[in-house]
Amino acid sequence: MNGLVSGPMRIVSGIQPTGSLHLGNYLGAIRNWVRMQDEAGEGAECLFFLADLHAISLPHDPATLRSGTLELTAALVACGLDPARSILFNQAQVPQHAELQWLLSGTARMGWLNRMTQWKDKAGKNREGASVALFAYPVLQAADVLLYQATHVPVGEDQKQHLELARDIAQKFNNDFGTEDEPVFTLPEPIIPPAAARIMSLRDGSAKMSKSDPSDMSRINLTDDADAIMQKVRKAKSDAEPLPSEPAGLEGRAEARNLVTIYAALSGQPIEAVLAEHGGTGFGAFKPALGELLVAVLAPITQRFTGLLEDRDALDAVLAEGAARARAIAAPTLVSVYRALGMVRG
Ligand code: TRP
Repeated sequence: MNGLVSGPMRIVSGIQPTGSLHLGNYLGAIRNWVRMQDEAGEGAECLFFLADLHAISLPHDPATLRSGTLELTAALVACGLDPARSILFNQAQVPQHAELQWLLSGTARMGWLNRMTQWKDKAGKNREGASVALFAYPVLQAADVLLYQATHVPVGEDQKQHLELARDIAQKFNNDFGTEDEPVFTLPEPIIPPAAARIMSLRDGSAKMSKSDPSDMSRINLTDDADAIMQKVRKAKSDAEPLPSEPAGLEGRAEARNLVTIYAALSGQPIEAVLAEHGGTGFGAFKPALGELLVAVLAPITQRFTGLLEDRDALDAVLAEGAARARAIAAPTLVSVYRALGMVRG
């Protein structure tokens, strides 16, 4: 340890405020963060931020980014992130993120960034027309976590490569500019949730649940009321067979698998247990059970979410307060980075 981490664990993660607020996000990143906050031991610190700086790497609409930031803040709090226990903020209010990104750009190699699968996927064939920010995106992500001397970073499987890059940057920087007794950066460990539930569209079991799907019937939104939820589940695509009593029986039944997966994730049970209980039941009976479970879990969240959105000033205040705490934690890292690089700041 380099003395820069005060607690035993420092958990840092980010989410882009450009996504949508539906069941897929809830059962993915958000619920996982809330769990980490609730289970973090004595002295552990959690920093969760909205990656608004990352959002400009693809074409974006400023008004949508602004409202998306407030909505995601409300959703996070509604889902149980407690701004008193976790530090909740947006990158743009903590200038050290962008500052450290530049300082790390001397260490990150073009070849490393060229190998990032997200860069290759998002730039596609049009690399010349991609933004510099899209290419440098992982360097900013490295800055996001190294700035706070993060020990653990919960991320989805798709972000694991970016985390490995952050470790490579930290390691090279420590080698090149740190001393053995005093590394500048802590190497962060990724935490990939074991069975991050992949929630698919209610209309097509092979497509991810997504805001960009033209059919609203394909997703459960965090703003849907009980009637809408029950109706969407009733109309969800399924098949005519009863549920199997073992997971092998879901083979080739993508829609059935999706509905069972949602049930399992919401009830906190493994799929095996859900099938042991509901095997032999047809969808005519299983769907209402699933709908009721969804309503029971989501109704309190939706109610808090809509309430929080009514007071935008209060949401801004939450972010301002979180950013002030984040800036204070970030400050000592930047002092040592500038010093290590041989730059004097008056
Ligand atoms: N790139 C991440 C995503 O799209 C979001 C993110 C930005 C992030 N900075 C981060 C996640 C730092 C973890 C740590 O999901």
